[in-house]
Amino acid sequence: MFELYLDTADLAQVARFNACLPVHGITTNPSILAKSTQRLSQLLPALTEILGEHSQNFVQVISEDVNAMVDEAERLIELPYNLVVKIPATEIGLSAIKRLKARNLPVLATAIYSVQQGFLAALCGADYLAPYVNRIDTFGMDGVGVVADLQLLLDKHHLPSKLLPASFKNTQQVLDVLKLGVASITLPIEVADQLFGHPAVNPAVQQFGLDWQSVFGNKLAYEV
Ligand code: G3P
Repeated sequence: MFELYLDTADLAQVARFNACLPVHGITTNPSILAKSTQRLSQLLPALTEILGEHSQNFVQVISEDVNAMVDEAERLIELPYNLVVKIPATEIGLSAIKRLKARNLPVLATAIYSVQQGFLAALCGADYLAPYVNRIDTFGMDGVGVVADLQLLLDKHHLPSKLLPASFKNTQQVLDVLKLGVASITLPIEVADQLFGHPAVNPAVQQFGLDWQSVFGNKLAYEV
């Protein structure tokens, strides 16, 4: 089943979108957590209150060498929350991913800017791959194209990694990767907001109300 994530640590926004959408969990990165200023020890229980204990959430390791990454990842996974650890898909990160997957611990390979980088992370067994669509575009490359090629390689080589594209600045990028059949996606709040935003929707709904009131006043549908 498709998994929808929010790329935020803003709990009010998580609650807002969880009320109207099947939010699977949140993805975070060190910048998102630093911006929110919340400690994980505050964020995770509050998140569980909102999304429930079956939600799945993503936290990135801060460590920069292999042993420390593996140790930090293990400590995160031991917490009483359903966490997937994010590891940058660098040479060092791939070593950590390989070691964590040898013990079947849940890992997302992050900071993916190229097809080859994502493919290597898939070979190391990463459960999720996070290509950075908009950031790739800003390098003058094709973010959606990278996702398309990665999906093709996963399919061709029967690799079980799920694509979880991240870094979006507009809804067209989102629709383009959804059309590729990715297993999951993480949306920044501004872009999730724009998905509701067709300018014709609210006027259409208001007109229904006006037409109804002109004939039936304040009565409800089952009252007429
Ligand atoms: O979680 C990392 C990714 O979502 C980065 O997004 O918007 O900072 O490019 P952005």
